[in-house]
Amino acid sequence: MIDRAIPLLYIGAAASFILALKWLSTVTTARRGVVVGAAGMALAVAGTLMKPEIESYRWIAVAFVVGTAIGIPMALMPMTAVPQRTALSHAFGALAAALVGTAEFYLHAPAIDRFTMGALVLEVLLGFLTFTASLMAFGKLQEILPTRPITWRGQNILNFAILGVAVASGAYLVARPDAIRLFPVLGGLALVFGVMLIIPIGGADMPTVISLLNSYAGLAAAAMGFVLDNKLLIIAGALDGSSGLILSVIMCRAMNRSFTNVLFGAFGQVQATTGAGEEQRAVRSATPEEAAGVLQAASRVIVVPGYGMAVAQAQHKVRELYDALTKAGIDVRFAIHPVAGRMPGHMNVLLAEANIPYDRLVEMEEVNSDFPQADVALVIGANDVTNPAARHDTNSPIYGMPILDVDKARTVMVIKRSMSPGFAGIDNELYYLDRTLMVFGDAKAVVGNLVKEFAGGT
Ligand code: TAP
Repeated sequence: MIDRAIPLLYIGAAASFILALKWLSTVTTARRGVVVGAAGMALAVAGTLMKPEIESYRWIAVAFVVGTAIGIPMALMPMTAVPQRTALSHAFGALAAALVGTAEFYLHAPAIDRFTMGALVLEVLLGFLTFTASLMAFGKLQEILPTRPITWRGQNILNFAILGVAVASGAYLVARPDAIRLFPVLGGLALVFGVMLIIPIGGADMPTVISLLNSYAGLAAAAMGFVLDNKLLIIAGALDGSSGLILSVIMCRAMNRSFTNVLFGAFGQVQATTGAGEEQRAVRSATPEEAAGVLQAASRVIVVPGYGMAVAQAQHKVRELYDALTKAGIDVRFAIHPVAGRMPGHMNVLLAEANIPYDRLVEMEEVNSDFPQADVALVIGANDVTNPAARHDTNSPIYGMPILDVDKARTVMVIKRSMSPGFAGIDNELYYLDRTLMVFGDAKAVVGNLVKEFAGGT
């Protein structure tokens, strides 16, 4: 009976994971995707707990209580902290895979066949390096560690040497499973490499790196599936590994960066902002009252949300503004840049949370041709994703990154607190255009005032 139930639960879990990934890829079905993914994991856990090899549930119960006690506060972290939370969960997942691999090694070595040893080496290597790399990524995102890239001469050579020796140790273990003393060298070097991998990468690139680490954690889990002969782990690990990799590729493409540039480019190191001694350029600023006046005269408005909207948690005020403008007969749409904010789909999630209709959200490729017809492009806490330098300034660190063509709108209004740069640390020439009005202040407060002024003037 149990023999038959476990594979059925595992098939149910695998099908749920595949459906979850499919549903997570569109905004309208994402919620369903989350529920089905969680249900799939519950089936997987139930199937595993039914395994006859389990002799006692005592330590499993302890782990369950400890895991729940850590997991619940993590789930309650604010939305802006999702990248760090993801880094932590990868760290735990990868550590689990590495420790299982270590236990399997010491239980069975040297009586381990070459294939299993190969999978085990991969599991331990990826598991331990992902563990420390994810903790480092967490530290940088949480600003516990310095966020700037730290580089020195010969760094890449040293890093490759550490990885090379770790891989060579693993290869030797596959050939000679009795070289038991080499195992701690493999694990230790993997842990060190994880730290070294992240040191030269700026906090700015952490979301992309986390997605890559997600992929490594998935591959470690898939390798663990081969070691334990657990097909569900192989499926789930492969899904995790491939989706993490695809997501990193999408993010790199949206920023026009290559993997090597993200991993070895020390992006964010050059701060090209207007520094001391540089000429201060003039900008036109407006009060919310003046900005509301401009909106009253508009018939087509494109809102461009960015990281600042997330920081200010302004999405509900943005919804109020959307309602007010729509009620006044103004066509309002939201331009979504694929890397606006700090995580994939960041803007979609926030706007969905505020119940802004999905059909008002338009992807970058589609909306860009509409900016010349827009009366107002209202930029709310977005910066880099609107910087025209990406189109023409070959010296700009963001040159080549596809941007929202906000500067082509008839009037541009930018809500942000100061002239501070965004994520890439560079000045934005959009702010100095004649048609640009800066409305300085916290996005939530400014949009709230805009709603009041707009309603008062109609
Ligand atoms: P950013 O370029 O980071 O600009 C955000 C702007 O928001 C800042 O200039 C800041 O200016 C403003 N801001 C911050 N807090 C605010 C508040 N409370 N009220 C109003 N404004 C506030 O954001 P973006 O345009 O969304 O671009 C995203 C960047 O992140 C890109 O460079 C992208 O490559 C990078 N990135 C994104 C991802 C993903 S997956 N989304 C992954 C890796 C990297 P003030 O301080 O003057 O207010």
